[in-house]
Amino acid sequence: MYAQRVLSGMRPTGSLHLGHYHGVLKNWLRLQNEYPCLFFVADWHALTTQYDDPQGIVSSSWDMVIDWLAAGVDPARATLFIQSQVPEHAELHLLLSMMAPLGWLERVPTYKDQQEKLENKDLSTYGFLGYPLLQSADILIYRADKVPVGEDQVPHIEFSREIARRFNHLYGRKGTGKMILVEPGALLTEASRMPGLDGQKMSKSYGNTITLREDEASVTHKLRRMPTDPARVRRSDPGDPGRCPVWQLHQVYTDESCQAWVQQGCRSAGIGCLECKQPVIDAILSEQAPMRERAQPYLDDASLVREIINEGNKKARHLARETMRDVRAAMGLDYG
Ligand code: TRP
Ligand code: SF4
Repeated sequence: MYAQRVLSGMRPTGSLHLGHYHGVLKNWLRLQNEYPCLFFVADWHALTTQYDDPQGIVSSSWDMVIDWLAAGVDPARATLFIQSQVPEHAELHLLLSMMAPLGWLERVPTYKDQQEKLENKDLSTYGFLGYPLLQSADILIYRADKVPVGEDQVPHIEFSREIARRFNHLYGRKGTGKMILVEPGALLTEASRMPGLDGQKMSKSYGNTITLREDEASVTHKLRRMPTDPARVRRSDPGDPGRCPVWQLHQVYTDESCQAWVQQGCRSAGIGCLECKQPVIDAILSEQAPMRERAQPYLDDASLVREIINEGNKKARHLARETMRDVRAAMGLDYG
């Protein structure tokens, strides 16, 4: 039996926003108190779609780590590292590629989906087809049994399980039952549909985000400008919260009594929209205040972040090396 272990990764795509906080990071914060956790920057995965424009990856990676720390990810509890700084991931990816059936990769649903979605990009590359296999290497190299991911990533976790099973079947010590790689399970992150500034799901591609550490003036400005129920042309026109994106934010950020005040005040034109937005503005600013505060020392002294990542890289590498010793031996590559 191997120890329980949580592992998750994020591609460095630029500043994280409140959707990432409510959807992913809050979950990480809980997990870091319950299990040994490894969280990493999937910079090679970013290259699978950004190979033609790789210049921003490094700075996005540092920014993302600062966002994690700002959110409360604690380097004393969780190991934080960067995928490309643990080159053993690449070695395992290569070795797994020897026995990964092409058909399995072609059938992973994200493969065709993403190709169609990003149709202006040529994604008929070897690296992009191998995306789920690289992800399998990320997971299997730490013998992580728990992988917190959103629903869209579940097929990749299933793929990783099948790869582990096939590996153990082909190379595991027959009879002794010794499993070399651990079959991971997805820890499904509850779908939090964090609404953006326009009522659609908050997402960078919709341009409707508030970033984690956005300054107060900008947050206030964006929220004040947010569209409301179009029926409320004049202050005296009654509205319907059901047709208003601000109401969706109330559901995330305010309590029952405030929400009753909104319902009543909106329908009777008893309150104005700016008045209605104020409790949401206050709640978001107070959610962000400790994040800005936690980020400040890292912004003042970049060496602190480097230090955390260097430590994390070292710890991760140590674990990765152990697995690779077993993997090489199992595949007949033990040169002593
Ligand atoms: N593919 C994941 C995503 O886009 C990122 C990722 C890469 C990952 N390797 C991983 C997630 C390993 C969990 C485990 O969100
Ligand atoms: Fe939306 Fe509030 Fe204005 Fe009603 S009062 S339309 S819920 S912002």
